[in-house]
Amino acid sequence: MKLLLQEGLGQTFWNTLTITGHIEARGRILADLPFPDFQTAIWEDISGMGIGHLSGGLLRAHGLDEGGEPEKDIGGHDTMWFALRDMAFGEVDYPEPAVPETIGRPEGQLALPPEIPEGHARAISFLLNLLLIEFRAELGFQLTEDLLRDPELFQERRAEAEHAAEIVGRIRADEDIHVSSLRLLLGELRHVHFRAPDGSRVPGHTLVDPIWEGIVRWATVDQPKLAAEQQKEMLTKRILAHPEGARILTAFHALEESPA
Ligand SMILES: [Fe+2]
Ligand SMILES: [Fe+2]
Repeated sequence: MKLLLQEGLGQTFWNTLTITGHIEARGRILADLPFPDFQTAIWEDISGMGIGHLSGGLLRAHGLDEGGEPEKDIGGHDTMWFALRDMAFGEVDYPEPAVPETIGRPEGQLALPPEIPEGHARAISFLLNLLLIEFRAELGFQLTEDLLRDPELFQERRAEAEHAAEIVGRIRADEDIHVSSLRLLLGELRHVHFRAPDGSRVPGHTLVDPIWEGIVRWATVDQPKLAAEQQKEMLTKRILAHPEGARILTAFHALEESPA
């Protein structure tokens, strides 16, 4: 990304910031999503746990961080990304990029545990997917902040780029809370016992862990290969459209890390 920016090929980074803003906006759904009452499915009294308060404002606050309250003209992370992008880049004439349909593991590919009601199983898998998305977002956001703070980049707009990096830092501070709260909620779900239809008690970890393993496998093994191929193809085209495309492409390939 640094090479591309140094060569005047800023569109890819600009697209990343734009797409991130649009995906953050989708997180607003957490503010309105009806969640099932977990107490009906769990043996233990959960009134003193985070999972006993999912619909009491925890997820609503999370959703408002991501997508704000547009009807009151209050922005969330979504508008922060667009603002910091425009600070760093100024006016550009790049077209709006296409935003991927989904960034988590596609729902249809997930096997849900049959021992508990489908609504509860779906809610667990939703929270697990969300945790993984937040983890991966942190990696991307850190890279973004580092690029914006790099003294060799955005040389004509250093002050604006530093300000943009500061805003990314504030978003990251919010995301850190999202990760902590999701870890707490999912930790509680692993710890409690669910009521099976036959009256038996099902330890939460036997439901949560297999879904998590499936999501992690998708995100760390299956999906990166596909994503890398798609990105390579797109970036090669974009680089070759540059008048000195061949030289830049050679430099770009030289930076490739060999597979571990
Ligand atoms: Fe966010
Ligand atoms: Fe978040």
